[in-house]
Amino acid sequence: MASDKEAKNSLTGRTVIVGITGSIAAYKMADLVSTLVKKGVDTYVIMTKNATNFIHPITFETLTNHKCLVDTFDRNFNYNIEHVSLATKADCVLIAPASANVIGKLAGGIADDMLTTTVMACRCPKLIAPAMNTGMYENPILQDNLDKLRRFGYEVIEPDAGHLACGVEGKGRLPGIETLLEHVYYELEFKTDDNGDKIKDLEGKKILVTAGPTREHIDPVRYITNHSTGKMGYSIAINAMRRGAKVTLISGTEDLPDPIRMNVIHIESAGDMLEAVQKNYADQDIIIKAAAVADYTPTETCDHKIKKDSGAPKIDLKSTTDILAWLGENKKPEQFLCGFAMETEDLIANAQKKLEKKNANMIVANNLRTQGAGFGGDTNVISIITREGVRELPLMDKSEDAVEILNAILERI
Ligand code: CTP
Repeated sequence: MASDKEAKNSLTGRTVIVGITGSIAAYKMADLVSTLVKKGVDTYVIMTKNATNFIHPITFETLTNHKCLVDTFDRNFNYNIEHVSLATKADCVLIAPASANVIGKLAGGIADDMLTTTVMACRCPKLIAPAMNTGMYENPILQDNLDKLRRFGYEVIEPDAGHLACGVEGKGRLPGIETLLEHVYYELEFKTDDNGDKIKDLEGKKILVTAGPTREHIDPVRYITNHSTGKMGYSIAINAMRRGAKVTLISGTEDLPDPIRMNVIHIESAGDMLEAVQKNYADQDIIIKAAAVADYTPTETCDHKIKKDSGAPKIDLKSTTDILAWLGENKKPEQFLCGFAMETEDLIANAQKKLEKKNANMIVANNLRTQGAGFGGDTNVISIITREGVRELPLMDKSEDAVEILNAILERI
């Protein structure tokens, strides 16, 4: 097994081929390629001739420090061999945007340019992101070709719906760069160690994560909430997904994009979250309650806007159900329950009390007063508390905390 550190950094030194075809969305790929290179991924770009009408190969040569391959028969370069050697060393190939033409060629086994010959020779995971006019995308021949590619192991990244460059509204837009990158990361991260053994160490595990704030409505325009952004919970959910877990994410925020490859359930109030948890908890192996659930909710929600003429309203509050405590009472013996504790004083003692009171297996605690910890930012300073003891971690990225939290859980299940 590769060490955690290797697994964490497993993007560095990996090889990705990015295939770009003739679609207006080709211009967006400069950002994607630049991000991959910054993450240490050895990135090669292959363009079809049509793609060069939308963005110049020099852009990609500058970004990747490799020749951008277009023509199979360039006399200055031994491409016939290059396409095979590149295909052999690639860990993943992403064709984005993929035109109807290239999809048709790959599905039909036609290899008549640098991109199709290389992709045909690749044995690594192949991702394909169609982007085109809605009519073309919905054409049954195109859909049939995509089904065929799926049957042969390609992962088809569904296009988004929205305003297309041709002026119509509909399905066919290239998904955001972040979404495309997530698909690439999934193929590369926590995948294989140096011996080629699988290290998707959460494969087969079902994980429920709650994230973000809740909103307790006073009337149709006003609500009570808190400063949680959901970043910590989303980092955990994404890391678990990349490690192979089947993730259900119950989220109280609309501000973060839905992560790929998981079931995302959006809720508003603490009551909604309780209901969603009760519906989904029974068959989970691990439950992680990162959400900042409101402790109080108005006893009544007014169905019309409260007018100020009637004076400052008195808002009566009632306690919400403590979902973590409910889970602690109702969990199955083999289920692992991890809660969070946000404190401003006596961090460890208060968190240890929560561990016992709510019958959790682990509490991740942070002190709101510590610099770099808490709501909103990209970093946190956490302590992992179990019945065996306390592990204090230094200031780090929430994505690194997510790795540590999941490692700590894995050690105990
Ligand atoms: N929690 C919950 N349901 C609630 C309130 C909290 O499930 N109604 C969970 C949170 O998701 C978190 C843990 O309980 O995992 C601790 O939340 P925290 O706000 O730190 O503590 P509370 O239990 O609310 O106690 P206090 O506010 O007194 O610190």
